[in-house]
Amino acid sequence: MDGNGRWARKRFMPRFFGHKQGVDALVRTVQACADRGVEYLTVFAFSSENWKRPAEEVSGLMGLVLVAVSKYLTRLSDQGVRIRIVGDRTQVSDKVRQAWEQAEASTCHNTRITLSVAFNYGGRWDVVQACQQAVRLGLAPEEIDERRLAQLMALSFAPDPDLFIRTGGEVRISNFLLWQVAYAELVFSDCLWPEFGEAELDAALAEFARRDRRFGDVKAPERIEASAG
Ligand code: IPE
Ligand code: MG
Repeated sequence: MDGNGRWARKRFMPRFFGHKQGVDALVRTVQACADRGVEYLTVFAFSSENWKRPAEEVSGLMGLVLVAVSKYLTRLSDQGVRIRIVGDRTQVSDKVRQAWEQAEASTCHNTRITLSVAFNYGGRWDVVQACQQAVRLGLAPEEIDERRLAQLMALSFAPDPDLFIRTGGEVRISNFLLWQVAYAELVFSDCLWPEFGEAELDAALAEFARRDRRFGDVKAPERIEASAG
C-alpha cells in the first residue's frame, strides 16, 4: 500500500492525511476483494524498516491503528472478514497490541475473506523467526524441508499469494512476502494507494488473467510436441 505520502503532498496536505485516506482505501479494497471471491488478502501496513521514519510519522501511524480498529472493526466483522496480524508484536506498544488482539479475537469465526495485516513485518524477519522456532522445537536438519519451514512462518494459515500488487510506482518487493511470492504474479501500478479502488483492482485481476502460469513447467502445447517427437 505505497504512495500515501505523495498523494497527500500533491494536495499540499501533511503525510498523515494520506495515511488516513489509505485506511479508507484499504476498507474499500477488502470489500471489493470479498465481492470478487478473493479469500485471502494480505496487506503491508508497517514494515520492520518503517521505524526509521520521523518519530512523529511513526506515532501517527500507531495512533491510526487504534482509530481504524475502533472505526471499522464492527463493519469489517459484519462483512465476514477474519483479521489476522502478521509481524513481530514484541516491539509495538501495549495499546496497539491490544487493538490487534481485539481485531483478531472478534473476527476469528468469520470465513468470507481473511485479511492479513503485515505490521512490524519483514520477509527476512519471518524466515529468521521460523528458523528460530525450528531450533527451539529441536528439529533435526533432515526434518527441515520447505513444507516444515512454511508451517513455522507467520502466514502458515494462508496459501501462497497468486497475485502481488504494489501501488505507488516503485518496482520492488521491499522485504514483503519474500518466501511466499516465489510463484506470485507481480503487478506494479503507478496508482497512489489512497486512489486505489475497484477499477485498479479489476485492472490488476485482468492483468493476472492474461499471465501464463507454468510453475517451472513448459507450456502445454510444447509438452504435447515433446512427447510426440
Ligand atoms: C505507504 O505510503 C504507507 C506506509 C508505508 C505506512 P508511504 O508513506 O510510503 O507514501 P510515499 O511513498 O511517501 O508516497
Ligand atoms: Mg513509500
